[in-house]
Amino acid sequence: MAVSGAPDQYGVVGHPVAHSWSPFIHGLFARQTGESLVYRLHDVLPEDFRSYVLDFFSRGGRGLNVTVPHKVAAAELANQLTPRAERARAVNTLAIQRDNRLLGDNTDGAGLVHDLRDNLSVEVTDRRVLIIGAGGATRGVIAPLLVLRPAELIVANRTADRARAFAADFTDLGQVTGCGFDDIGAEAYDVVINATSASLSGEVPAVPATIIHRDTVCYDMAYSRSETPFLRWSREQGCARAIQGWGMLVEQAAESFHLWRGIRPETAPVLEALRERASLSAPSF
Ligand code: ATR
Repeated sequence: MAVSGAPDQYGVVGHPVAHSWSPFIHGLFARQTGESLVYRLHDVLPEDFRSYVLDFFSRGGRGLNVTVPHKVAAAELANQLTPRAERARAVNTLAIQRDNRLLGDNTDGAGLVHDLRDNLSVEVTDRRVLIIGAGGATRGVIAPLLVLRPAELIVANRTADRARAFAADFTDLGQVTGCGFDDIGAEAYDVVINATSASLSGEVPAVPATIIHRDTVCYDMAYSRSETPFLRWSREQGCARAIQGWGMLVEQAAESFHLWRGIRPETAPVLEALRERASLSAPSF
């Protein structure tokens, strides 16, 4: 509990974290909803993560977002996990509860689904969907995507075995298959989601160009001020709708805010403000 009159303490913990847009986003959510809180950056090394987080909450902190590289450690630290965090085996949101137990949630998948469905009107139900990558980013979004009942959900990874093992963890929820890049097949997909970390090193996953036709929607969970390498590549292959993950960023933040404060902020004006702040060109959205 905050000391009387002092705003409640929130933040994002990661390494590195200086580039994070979360303070900007949560600052706008707080202003919009009239909630009294502060939201700060916490740059913490992996070896210090556990003690740092416990100290933050013992000093009265109310909630933390967790980003790379701490999401798995946060799942291990939490006293209790929401079902979606348990599925993801990764936590991006920690919240202290009334009984002082730490709840771990994962709002990434909900953020992606809100962005695709509500902001962008991208149809997933009965569509063929390809996710590239089988790391932590993918793990958070598989279950919420399967809820939308795609006709087919393929997880393709550079390391094929990882994709196969990964898909096997989710087959009880729906039609999901794992494969390597060589086995993706020649048929184009309706939706292609890049969940690899390749963009961070300026690379494009070595997937065949045949996955894309003009009507394919290409979504990069990564985002940057300029076009990501994957989206540039997909436009070069003829994709007419190439979208960066800014909307997912704002939507997952809104889900976290809801968990902490019990109120879901309007995301459209915040996405608009983020667009202006990051000086994004309209086609990236
Ligand atoms: P995170 O938890 O942040 O997602 P990760 O678990 O290391 O990080 O996963 C990174 C993902 O990006 C993996 O699917 C990785 O493929 P591998 O499993 O084969 O390593 C993928 N990835 C990273 N760089 C890539 C590149 N240049 N081309 C293709 N896939 C890449």
